Amino acid sequence: MKIYHDNDVDDAIVRDKVIAVIGYGIQGRAQAQNWKDSGFKVIVGLRPEGKTWQQAKDDGMEVMAIEDAAKKGDIICLLTPDMPQKEIYQTQIKKHMKAGKTLYFSHGFNITYKQIRIPSGVDVIMAAPKGPGAKVRQTYKEGFGTPAVIAVAQDASGNAKNIALAMAKGLHSTKAGVFECTFDQETYTDLFGEQAVLCGGTAELIKAGFETLVEDGFPPEMAYFEVLHELKLIVDLIQEGGLEYMWSKVSETARYGGRTRGKLVVDARTKKKMKKILGQIKGGKFAREWIKEYYSGKKIFEDMREKESQHQIEIVGAEIRSLFQKPK
Ligand SMILES: NC(=O)c1ccc[n+]([C@@H]2O[C@H](COP(=O)([O-])OP(=O)(O)OC[C@H]3O[C@@H](n4cnc5c(N)ncnc54)[C@H](OP(=O)(O)O)[C@@H]3O)[C@@H](O)[C@H]2O)c1
Ligand SMILES: [Mg+2]
Repeated sequence: MKIYHDNDVDDAIVRDKVIAVIGYGIQGRAQAQNWKDSGFKVIVGLRPEGKTWQQAKDDGMEVMAIEDAAKKGDIICLLTPDMPQKEIYQTQIKKHMKAGKTLYFSHGFNITYKQIRIPSGVDVIMAAPKGPGAKVRQTYKEGFGTPAVIAVAQDASGNAKNIALAMAKGLHSTKAGVFECTFDQETYTDLFGEQAVLCGGTAELIKAGFETLVEDGFPPEMAYFEVLHELKLIVDLIQEGGLEYMWSKVSETARYGGRTRGKLVVDARTKKKMKKILGQIKGGKFAREWIKEYYSGKKIFEDMREKESQHQIEIVGAEIRSLFQKPK
């Protein structure tokens, strides 16, 4: 796999272009700020009545209505949440996607699941930082960058890949490393990762561990520290040097116990269920379900959030975090 670094990429190809960032949230804000600090010409397109309009202004951005940004921009970056992208695109952007322009995404969902039809004559590209927006901005300010993948869904100009690489360079992702994949690969792996391991899998693992200790009579505060708080310390070790490095940094007893008991928690059945999750992602079942839920008012989604916010680990956690804060 070819990994692109700063020296492999010339960003002159986008320096004279107007980059229209549509959406100024978790990714939009971080990416717009990084591009601006890299000397790119950035404008921001938002709803005038929206929450982030003033924030973008306060950050010194040139802010305008989405339609105006889409009209003025050469590279249109769709960085609103994935679900409303389709409607925003149809009503305010599509008519301005003239041949020669570029449509940019940071996640492949709407192209992979054909929610947005690729316009002719336009480059359709992706640069997806592999980290939350706050990290994308923080690592930039620290003089480094967040790794990213790039992809090309349509190469109308013959330069689509170079434009994607240049955009990634402006984010400083090429300081860390960037590699190319397809829109489908990014969509499937991103959804799988967040569902089975990162967000979904981890949240359920933590809750199950917490409940096991508390139901056996251990104080919830102790359970919180054991299964939630300490997780970060372990994950930091894993990110720094991999699983074996982590094992080498914990006690010998933890090493023996973890290696023998972990396999009881995550076993062949777990993997079978992971394969089912991946199948539903690749087959489109997950996408259809989420689109339906989103457009029917997100009732189930909101109910889950409401219920899970009442879980004991959230109540105890809020108290503990306030008691164990560093003095300011
Ligand atoms: N979150 C991450 O760290 C992350 C990581 C990798 C990739 N991505 C991808 O990056 C993209 C953006 O995700 P995000 O999490 O950054 O989104 P987000 O923070 O939820 O986006 C919020 C922004 O979108 C605007 N917006 C929301 N709904 C809108 C609508 N109906 N019409 C017009 N503007 C609307 C908001 O404007 P108002 O102020 O008007 O509400 C706000 O500026 C997605 O494709 C996502 O998959 C995200
Ligand atoms: Mg994702």
